[in-house]
Amino acid sequence: MERLSNQPQRILEDAFARFDLNEIAISFSGAEDVVLIDMASRICSEEFRVFSLDTGRLHPETYEFIETVRNHYSVPIEVLSPDAAEVEQLVRDKGLFSFYEDGHTQCCSIRKIHPLQAILSELGAWITGQRRDQGVTRTDVPTEQVDAAFSDDHHRLIKFNPLAEWNSDEVWDYIRSNNVPYNPLHDRGFASLGCAPCTRAIKPGEPERAGRWWWEQEDEKECGLHIQNLEVNDR
Ligand code: ADX
Ligand code: SF4
Repeated sequence: MERLSNQPQRILEDAFARFDLNEIAISFSGAEDVVLIDMASRICSEEFRVFSLDTGRLHPETYEFIETVRNHYSVPIEVLSPDAAEVEQLVRDKGLFSFYEDGHTQCCSIRKIHPLQAILSELGAWITGQRRDQGVTRTDVPTEQVDAAFSDDHHRLIKFNPLAEWNSDEVWDYIRSNNVPYNPLHDRGFASLGCAPCTRAIKPGEPERAGRWWWEQEDEKECGLHIQNLEVNDR
């Protein structure tokens, strides 16, 4: 099937038409997924929801960029913090860098997944910036799916991935042609952005997510937000 260059915008339009604006939100990591906010600001005449998971360990540039985006688009960004007691317990038990020793799962659960579960329980749908070209765990990401990881018998959650069929060049063409503000870390070799201690710049030719949890296997690089990618995709 021929790909339409405006496909992400069509998916976003459809998503916003099908859900009440209180029941759908863009999940913004502070990276090139800013294009979703730019597109939404052109599509929605009313205020739409955006949230960011503030792990407490993001780069200073990312905090500054989240603020830049808030001001540029006049969009209120819901910056979600982890539970302080859970973080304190983890740090007391294992220190501030336990992920280098026993993997990122526990820290990501506390700092990202628990706050994510809380907000997703209020929503009927969320919108992410996942793309198929981002790595081996993402090659089958559909533009829309039931989010099996965060749905249950009482709550069916839809996950839209409007950029799934775009590649990195298409995203960056959009950013440049539309003068979209972007995180300055991208100009310093950070193709994919996560927490500061768990992300490093990549070398030319390396896979986009090679700098994420670089001490772990490429096919295990999901933190729980998109754990469904490691299981059978429910299209
Ligand atoms: S991650 O799971 O490995 O961190 P990645 O950085 O590739 O994901 O980003 C894919 C999408 O997940 C982003 O476009 C965004 O929708 C969502 N996401 C990732 N990290 C965050 C975050 N800290 N806050 C909000 N959304 C996020
Ligand atoms: Fe913790 Fe690293 Fe996961 Fe951030 S990416 S929540 S610092 S393990």
